[in-house]
Amino acid sequence: PAGFTPAPRKPEPATVPVLSRTWGQPESWTLAAYREDNGYHGLREALNLSPDEVIEIVKASGLRGRGGAGFPVGTKWSFIPQAPKEGGKAHYLVVNADESEPGTCKDMPLMLGSPHALVEGMIIASYAIRANQAFIYVRGEVASVIARLRRAVDEAYAAGLLGTDILGSGFDLDLVVHAGAGAYICGEETALLDSLEGRRGQPRLRPPFPAVAGLYASPTVVNNVESIASVPAILRNSPDWFREFGTEKSPGFTLYSLSGHVTRPGQYEAPLGVTLRELLELAGGIRAGHHLKFWTPGGSSTPLLTADHLDMPLDYEGVAGAGSMLGTKAIQLFDETTCVVRAVLRWSEFYQHESCGKCTPCREGTYWLVQLMERLEAGEGRPGDLEKLLDVTDSIVGKAFCALGDAAGAPITSSLALFRDEYIEHARLGHCPFDPAASTTYG
Ligand code: NAI
Repeated sequence: PAGFTPAPRKPEPATVPVLSRTWGQPESWTLAAYREDNGYHGLREALNLSPDEVIEIVKASGLRGRGGAGFPVGTKWSFIPQAPKEGGKAHYLVVNADESEPGTCKDMPLMLGSPHALVEGMIIASYAIRANQAFIYVRGEVASVIARLRRAVDEAYAAGLLGTDILGSGFDLDLVVHAGAGAYICGEETALLDSLEGRRGQPRLRPPFPAVAGLYASPTVVNNVESIASVPAILRNSPDWFREFGTEKSPGFTLYSLSGHVTRPGQYEAPLGVTLRELLELAGGIRAGHHLKFWTPGGSSTPLLTADHLDMPLDYEGVAGAGSMLGTKAIQLFDETTCVVRAVLRWSEFYQHESCGKCTPCREGTYWLVQLMERLEAGEGRPGDLEKLLDVTDSIVGKAFCALGDAAGAPITSSLALFRDEYIEHARLGHCPFDPAASTTYG
């Protein structure tokens, strides 16, 4: 709605290439290129400090988790028992690189373009939480990313940045790149841990959170790729430098992924609190001759927004204020040629397919959502179907074992709130009023 008050933020340039700065350079993924760009200086800074001091720096920066939930990274690290672990359980760092949220495509280019930023961030994080074993759990389908990560890890071992006595500090760390088998649910942190342990990936009940009982029931930090890759620059510069970007409650810079009906889709690095209007200026706007109908701020798991929200600050608070979530910052844009009912049907099919089946509300509920959405999209909706759709959604949201159930409900409830007339029009006409050939974003 009109009248958003942007959170105060400094008048920085709209794009702030920190994470993505070197992506376009030749062989940016090599250790040599990363070192040219001040690579591993943050690690040297960290190893001169105590682990607790490193945690305090990350806390002071205000860095929030970039996997979607925005949980403060330094706070999460501080949950790991601070006492030396002799006689106690080992600690683990696990990087969640199982990026699968529809529209989300920021971690993959990051790992392709600057895998050493992730490796350096992982060494710093492991040192801070006193872990000697770290894992990257990466989607099995992305062979090119896996190859590039493995190469970066090999280079780091050869240079004495991994293994024993890293840079003469006495700190040891082993890092394993583990490829998953392509299941959306394995991006849920506890399902990921089960999968890493060799079991079928299904979520565990939380609490206990992984920080208390994670991998092999030991204290484990699970962080997103972008969260960890943001750490070296904070150590290299300062928490105050990081706080110069973004807003007070959502500091720093981040990667926004623009896709769909936009002139130049891709990754746009910008301070938190940037608006979609500003991002669209960089991305050349909605495709020529068309206008924005609806969009997702953070993939299909976040409630839909419209052109009324173009000036909403894209930070955790701003998007929550509009009744949605910043999530993964996967901005999927749809113009007026798109049938919202069909787009939501496609997402419902996705959630049904990816539901792990462990809990009844999600396993059965996502099945029924698809049945109802198929009939509504075909113009065969019956009286009471919209109420039934909301009723089924209500039986899933907040009642499923993990966030997948809530995610399945988000596009349904928000599309009904914003575009109820479009659902009714399908039933009135007896068919979809849109020409699928005119739109390029859904099948
Ligand atoms: P959450 O808010 O439950 O947890 C976020 C993180 O904080 C977790 O690591 C959790 O362990 C930790 N945490 C929260 N409360 C804690 C406590 N009291 N003590 C210790 N640790 C605590 O969110 P969740 O369910 O882990 O993730 C949901 C998010 O995932 C959504 O925002 C969605 O946008 C995102 N998502 C991302 C995908 C991707 O491909 N990147 C795919 C699907 C969803």
